Formats: sequence, C-alpha cells, structure tokens
Amino acid sequence: MLGNLKPQAPDKILALMGEFRADTRQGKIDLGVGVYKDPNGLTPVMRAVKAAEKQIWESQDSKSYTALVGEAEYRDAMADLVLGGTDKARLASAASVGGTGAIRNALELIRMGNPDAVIHVSDPTWPNHISILEFMGMRYETYPYFDNDTRGVDFEAMKAALSRVKAGDVVLLHGCCHNPTGANPLADQWAEIADMLEKTGAIPLIDLAYQGFGDGLDADAEPTRMIAQRLPEVLIAASCSKNFGIYRERAGILIALTESEKSRDLTQGALAFLNRQTFSFPPDHGARIVSTILRDEALRADWKAELEEVRRTMLGLRDQLAGELRDLTGSDRFDFLSRHRGMFSRLGASPEQVAKMKEEAAIYMVGDSRLNIAGLNRESVPVLARAIVEAGV
Ligand code: LMR
Repeated sequence: MLGNLKPQAPDKILALMGEFRADTRQGKIDLGVGVYKDPNGLTPVMRAVKAAEKQIWESQDSKSYTALVGEAEYRDAMADLVLGGTDKARLASAASVGGTGAIRNALELIRMGNPDAVIHVSDPTWPNHISILEFMGMRYETYPYFDNDTRGVDFEAMKAALSRVKAGDVVLLHGCCHNPTGANPLADQWAEIADMLEKTGAIPLIDLAYQGFGDGLDADAEPTRMIAQRLPEVLIAASCSKNFGIYRERAGILIALTESEKSRDLTQGALAFLNRQTFSFPPDHGARIVSTILRDEALRADWKAELEEVRRTMLGLRDQLAGELRDLTGSDRFDFLSRHRGMFSRLGASPEQVAKMKEEAAIYMVGDSRLNIAGLNRESVPVLARAIVEAGV
C-alpha cells in the first residue's frame, strides 16, 4: 500500500527554508518563510508570552482534556480581538490547529453546508490555499488581484470578477497584509467589496493571519469588522502565530457569524464535530497563553507595546529599502514597498532574477519574488537593494 503513494512536490516556501539552512555562504539573507526576525535575526519569545507561560506553569494543576472547541475564555477573547465586540447571538467558534487548521475546517464546513460552492481566491494567494483546495477536491476559481505594473491592487478587475460570483459561492479574502503581495484594498474599496458580496449573495471567508502587522491591531481588523456587521454569514480564520509570535504552538480560531440563533447552534455543533473528526481536542498551550495575555490588563498592554515595536520595525525597513532603491535607480518605481503592508511584498521580479539574487548574492526569496521584509535589518537592506538593481529588476 505505502509503496503506491505518489511522490509529493515539497511546499515551495518550506523547501526554501531547508535550502537556506544548507547554504554555507557568509552573509546569506533569508527573506523566505513568513517568520518575524528582530534586527539580530532572532525570532524572540515575546515578553508577555514568557510571563503568561510562567503564570500557567505556576497555576496549572492538570493537563486533562479541555473542550472540543477549546476553552470559552480563549474563544471569547479572540472574538473580541478580531471583531471588537459583536452580537454573541450570531457567533459560533472553535479553536483550531493554527490558522491553517482554521482554513481547512472552514472549507470542510463550507463543503458540509453547500457541496457545490465554488471558492474564489485572489490571484495570487497564499499557495497553501490552493494546495488545500486541490487536495480536498473542491472547486475554485481565481479573481484578478495584483497589478504587476503598479504593484498595487487591480481593483477594477477584482470588482468586475466579484460582481459575477454566484449566490452561495465563497470569496476568500485576506483581511489585512495580503500574502504574498503586500498590496491591500483601501478603506473605500473594502466598502465596495462588501457591497459586492451583499449584491451577489456570496459568503466571505476571511483569512486573518497578520492582525497587528499592518496598520495596527484595530486598523487591521477594520475591514473584517465592517464585513461582519454587514453580511449575514461570514467565516473568519484567525491565527495567533504571528502577532503573538507562537508559531509552533499552533493557536488559531475559526469564527462563524450566522444569520440566526438556530443557525448559530447548528454551526457550533458542526464545528465541534469537525474538530472531533480531525484531531479531537485542539492544542491548549498556545491558546491558554493568548487568553492569559488578553485577559490580564498589564500583560495585554505589554504585548500590544511589543507588537507595535515589531510593526514599526517592519515599516522602517520598508521605508529604508524604498529609499535605497530610489537613490540607486534615481526613480520612485520601488516606492510601492513603502505602501505595502505586513510581512510581505511582491517585488515583481522574474523567476530568473530571483534565481540570480540567490546564486550571486545568497538572498533567498520565494520564486514569485515575495520577500519577507522582517527577514531584513538595517545592514542587509542596502545589500538587498544593490542585488535587486544588479539583477535588473
Ligand atoms: C508563509 O506564508 O510564509 C507563512 O504563512 C508560513 C507558511 O506556513 O507558509
């Protein structure tokens, strides 16, 4: 049986991590996988996370099972963080195995509710969205998103495609900090997206993996909150990997906003069922860290302050890189780097140019020229800028 398995192509982002590790060149620069690194190249445990872990270690007297959908404290705190307070009568939720687990179970839920639904994803989107959809055999289509000339959102084309989506189909949106491009709709464009969803009767599935990495915790959640208020049914997959820096703990949540209390109860039951079929109980440690921080005023304030430092560091690196490229090229054509938000920017380089930067300058970015801004520091920015110009981007 096992000999019949087909070889699986490695995930491109994760394969790049291995390639980088194996490179023995001095001064190599990793702009691949979406992990925050501080100016020393480390991914530190946040102060509030350490403090929460200590509290948990001191007070926890059992490792027995929690609830199938995770602890209520965690789910309530996360619903507040994402939605800023909402009508609980419409809200169903379940803790998940990271943001990816929430996406997977959101798709399972969609399939249970409407097996014919087509999932509309942005072109491009996080490659794992497509990979999961294909693995599950679900139908999907792409809608235009990125304009490679401006490196911004091609909003007219996006709008035209979204206006043709069928009622009951699902539109997957990145709530903030679009991965892989870094280009995001403006506030009034988000309002038009909500108009479009209302008109067509499509259901939004919002992937919110980078809340706090773009314009701030509340600002980044604003489009999600607006859509949650306006649309009858909304699915949200949120991750704590990045904003709490707890990547390996796998803390995420799937939130569903429903049309009625009856449908809320059905959805809540389906979410518990899905967890049980997949892994039974969701991981607790990361979720407990998150709820400990969010429910304690001092820890919450410290976490917010450190997250804000992380966000500002990334914005500073964006401005520095755009500035270096302005000086080197004598043009403002790389200013989009300052306008993009989140960890990533799609540079718009060809696969050959990406390969050249890897071979000649030991700079690793994903093949579609997505670079992780957080992989840079003040010293490596000029190195990258020169390599971009030398590669002829
Ligand atoms: C990324 O896009 O690099 C991150 O979301 C990590 C991952 O799992 O791919």
